Amino acid sequence: MAEGSTLTEAPRVLRVALLGGGTVGSQVARILLDDAEALAARAGARLELVGIAVRNVDAPRDVELPRELYTTDAESLVASADLVIELMGGIEPARTHIIAALRRGASVVTGNKALLAQDGATLFDEADAHGAELNFEAAVAGAIPIIRPIRESLSGDRITRVLGIVNGTTNFILDAMDTTGAQFEDVLAEAQRLGYAEADPTADVEGLDAAAKAAILASLAFHTRVTLEDVRCEGITGVTASDIAAAQDAGMTIKLLAIAELVPAGAAGDGVSVRVHPTLLPAKHPLAAVRGAYNAVFVEAENAGALMFYGAGAGGAPTASAIMGDVVTTARRIIAGSPGRAGTTRTLPIVGLESVTTSYSIGLEVADEPGVLSRVAQVFADHGVSIETMRQKLEQKIGRGEVLPAAEEGAHGAGRAELRFVTHRASEAALAATVADIKNLDVVESVTSVLRVEGI
Ligand code: NDP
Ligand code: HSE
Repeated sequence: MAEGSTLTEAPRVLRVALLGGGTVGSQVARILLDDAEALAARAGARLELVGIAVRNVDAPRDVELPRELYTTDAESLVASADLVIELMGGIEPARTHIIAALRRGASVVTGNKALLAQDGATLFDEADAHGAELNFEAAVAGAIPIIRPIRESLSGDRITRVLGIVNGTTNFILDAMDTTGAQFEDVLAEAQRLGYAEADPTADVEGLDAAAKAAILASLAFHTRVTLEDVRCEGITGVTASDIAAAQDAGMTIKLLAIAELVPAGAAGDGVSVRVHPTLLPAKHPLAAVRGAYNAVFVEAENAGALMFYGAGAGGAPTASAIMGDVVTTARRIIAGSPGRAGTTRTLPIVGLESVTTSYSIGLEVADEPGVLSRVAQVFADHGVSIETMRQKLEQKIGRGEVLPAAEEGAHGAGRAELRFVTHRASEAALAATVADIKNLDVVESVTSVLRVEGI
């Protein structure tokens, strides 16, 4: 048999180092061990798990794995591996280990969106310079295949907008607050218990995790470099039970959306706007139906039109599925000797929110007396902000939480009224000036909420 023939070759073995044995890492290890035969057949090489780097080898673990695999010596693991799976999270030492692996020519699979959004360019340059691959399907939207479709399937199209729910923890919290009236802290604790939340859940609830994912999606979709710092980010900690009740009254729901879009940037041509914020959606909008820790991403492209990707956005096993897809694909390419390249090409200007228009919902508590409505409406008009709808509720002094039906013409003077305006699209600057002036009206007791609205 000729040299190189697959029939006489010993089966190839790829040494796989796993950095991190937590929620996701433990599930990856389980799959590598339990499905070894099937994975070998698909990858074209046996994937030998040579070790799992953790902080504490003696810590109790939910998934039963051979104790001898655990080590605190990540550096030695990396030095001996053909393929490194990084699931430690955080910036350091993950970044140092990934760079060490790439410099040896070992390919890396990671789910570390925080690191990619902060310093992805350095890592991709290292990968390209050393003929290695860096793959990261799990970094955005858990189990959902979204990176490869954008990077490969849509690489012949022009993507104009990516919009979605990309954080499972916050969707889980908002959904529970919306459907069961649960308290924010209780639901967050449950999301942590279920393995959805980041090690520091502030990253989830303050929107930073979604912002990191939005930066990654924008970089890939628009073939440019977008980092976490370029993303305008607002989390869900300011969303109150009363915002949720008001949304329900208006037939809407509140979701934390990530929005990345190409926008005109004057003579420069295209610019990129990337933002994350709580957003009101009509209850019949497809994203309103995304429940629990599920994620969904809309991609709009010139030729493909609108595509929607949906599935489990967080959790150990779903995320391990995305990691393993990258592991098998990467192993195949190592065997074939042809690593792919990162391929980011241009630098588009980042456009701030001042150049982006959106609809807004503004809640006000006002004195219930004649002329209030017209005075408030005049402020909107003064700033060129057009009102789409206005709803009013009377809140008479009959006890907290008891609200009378919508006000009838002339039925005033009994107490306070709650007004909720939804505007047509307006710039952030015009909206901010409107809200500032409304706050100064003597008939306005408070501005109870300002939320962006999509899908109307
Ligand atoms: P966990 O906190 O559950 O696990 C982290 C693991 O890394 C632990 O085993 C920990 O060791 C180990 N580790 C952390 N720091 C070090 C260090 N300095 N040296 C050695 N080991 C270390 O995180 P997850 O599994 O939830 O997340 C891992 C990565 O995957 C993160 O980047 C996260 O953003 C990403 N991700 C997570 C998803 C999820 O649903 N959980 C979904 C998509 C991506 P020890 O066990 O001893 O503490
Ligand atoms: N903490 C993240 C989330 C994990 O809740 O979506 C998945 O990236």
